Amino acid sequence: MFESLTEQPPDKILMLMQAYKEDPREQKIDLGVGVYKDAEGRTPIMRAVKAAEKQLWEVEETKAYTGLAGDPAFGEALSRLVLGDAVPAGHVAAAATPGGTGACRQGFDMIRMANPDAKVYVSDPTWPNHLSILKHMGIPVVPYRYFDDETRGVDFDGMMVDIGRAGAGDVVLLHGCCHNPTGANLNLTQWQAVVDLLLKTGAVPMIDIAYQGFGDGLEADAEGVRLVASSVPECLIAASCSKNFGIYRERTGLLMAVASDPSRQKLHQQTLNYLNRQNFSFPPDHGARLVTMVLNDDALRADWQAEVEAMRTGMLKLREQLAQELRRLSGSDRFGFIAQHRGMFSRLGATPEQVETMREQHGIYMVGDSRLNIAGLNAKSVPVLAQAIIDAGV
Ligand code: LMR
Repeated sequence: MFESLTEQPPDKILMLMQAYKEDPREQKIDLGVGVYKDAEGRTPIMRAVKAAEKQLWEVEETKAYTGLAGDPAFGEALSRLVLGDAVPAGHVAAAATPGGTGACRQGFDMIRMANPDAKVYVSDPTWPNHLSILKHMGIPVVPYRYFDDETRGVDFDGMMVDIGRAGAGDVVLLHGCCHNPTGANLNLTQWQAVVDLLLKTGAVPMIDIAYQGFGDGLEADAEGVRLVASSVPECLIAASCSKNFGIYRERTGLLMAVASDPSRQKLHQQTLNYLNRQNFSFPPDHGARLVTMVLNDDALRADWQAEVEAMRTGMLKLREQLAQELRRLSGSDRFGFIAQHRGMFSRLGATPEQVETMREQHGIYMVGDSRLNIAGLNAKSVPVLAQAIIDAGV
């Protein structure tokens, strides 16, 4: 039977991760997969997470199942981090999932269950795995204009025209902050305009927020999500703890279904529980427990916030250094957008051939669409990258 299977396209980001590992050159620079690295190229376990892990080892007495939605304390703590007090807790149904990817997957499943004819509008470009999962699930995808190749900013007029075509029963997938792969983000006025449009058309927003704290700060990065959640009748939010808690392999995420009518919360919660049961039963607990401990303990939380803030400002400095170096080498301001972008990524605007040249000649690994992970740089590799960009003729 299984001879009928055909080869599936490999994930480009994960392929790049492997190619980098196999490259024997010492001077290579990894700007591929969205994993935070410090100046020494390490992905450290965050201090507060390590401290929570130690405490947990001492106090945890069982590994018996939690609930289908995970420990409710995790759902409460993480939805508060994302939503603040924008919506009353009684309006939010939440279920823990295996990472932010799991949250996206469960969200798409809930959409399909509610409306098998739903189309999902996605930004062009978006995280490739959004497209891959939607395709795998047979959910029709409609791209909307997002990135302006000229300005390297958001093509907001194009975006509004395109998402204006989504109607009731359709879903508009938005990135909560730190757009992946471009680094170009909506400002609050633009978020408000998106909300007004969605209220007019009746399309349902789903927000993927995987990098809260890496853009303008933990609170500022959540402003768009909070505005949407407090304004529209219903929305889905997929949150990830992989990056801002640095617990990638623990697979820690949360899917939230927010409704302005609290009488719907129960049904939403039951649906999320049901979908978890069908797909993997109980969600992973270890990472979720650590996140809950960090968020609910004043000292751990303060230390975690300080570390996230240091990561964020470190990435901002690298952005500024790179933009400045490119200004010096090119004698122009055409790379100024790198300092304006926010989050882990920027789309450079190089051609696939130029990306290939940088890989071959300089051992610089970035995704083929010229997405670069700023956190893969350090003060020493910035000038190397800047020179390679100029040499490749970008
Ligand atoms: C990325 O975009 O590089 C990250 O979200 C990692 C992944 O799973 O693709």
